[in-house]
Amino acid sequence: MSLENDAQPVIMSTDNTTMEKLLESIDRNRLPRHVAIIMDGNGRWATSRGLERSQGHIEGVNTVRRITEIASEVGVECLTLYAFSTENWNRPKAEVDALMHLIGIAIQRETPDLIKNNVRLTMIGDFGRMPEDARKRLQGCFDDTAHCTGLVLNLALSYSGRWDISRAARDIAREVADGALNPDEIDESLFASRLSTAKLPVQDPDLLIRTGGEVRVSNFLLWEITYTEIEVTDKFWPDFTKEDFLKAIISYQKRERRFGKTSQQITNQ
Ligand code: IPE
Ligand code: IPE
Ligand code: MG
Repeated sequence: MSLENDAQPVIMSTDNTTMEKLLESIDRNRLPRHVAIIMDGNGRWATSRGLERSQGHIEGVNTVRRITEIASEVGVECLTLYAFSTENWNRPKAEVDALMHLIGIAIQRETPDLIKNNVRLTMIGDFGRMPEDARKRLQGCFDDTAHCTGLVLNLALSYSGRWDISRAARDIAREVADGALNPDEIDESLFASRLSTAKLPVQDPDLLIRTGGEVRVSNFLLWEITYTEIEVTDKFWPDFTKEDFLKAIISYQKRERRFGKTSQQITNQ
């Protein structure tokens, strides 16, 4: 199986009229500014078809392309995709190696289209823990898309919420030890500013989508999802379509975000 020859056309799963109708139903004034996705179910998608798990990851890259396109088209400002968690390093070495190779190849291959669509690639996670080859290809794409002003495509790679929170705590402790920071200055906003998501145009996701049916957070954006609206779909990531993404936004737009207040307070705002 060659990871290099995996470019496949993105198939529209429904006709254009369905897409148009969904696009029309979206209120452009109430878009989620930051959408985060736990892209789960690649392995199950593959094994249910008698394929190797890595085939599911390859197919998952096509979904990444589709969802990046639609997020950018609709006007989402930031799309954070959970692609590899700190805990995923504990998977069999062959799967980890195949995933790392695929990530590097896919990033390099997609860079021209990202530039064409004005998409800027960023990353949160332990960059230094990534293999050198993937690091080089990622850095190339960060540099080549640094001028892009549209959607920010933020990959969570070798990332976990606890990893980031403990790293931020360490940085803050160092600043205090160096005398650069007074402990009394440490509040929620200072702490948030030391998390790796601080560089994003919008730090906290408005909408979190998880594919693959599991109703859990799996160490993703623990600080940032405090008031995020959550959508879980049973569909495996390779089967997730542009229409599914638009439906998740429509469902998000039907919700009342109360942030601890009463419904009456929100309607009278
Ligand atoms: C998500 O799919 C991709 C990664 C975690 C890298 P999985 O590989 O977790 O697929 P399932 O959940 O085993 O089906
Ligand atoms: C979450 O999926 C991590 C990513 C999608 C990268 P997992 O497959 O690792 O999550 P668990 O183990 O089922 O919680
Ligand atoms: Mg999984």
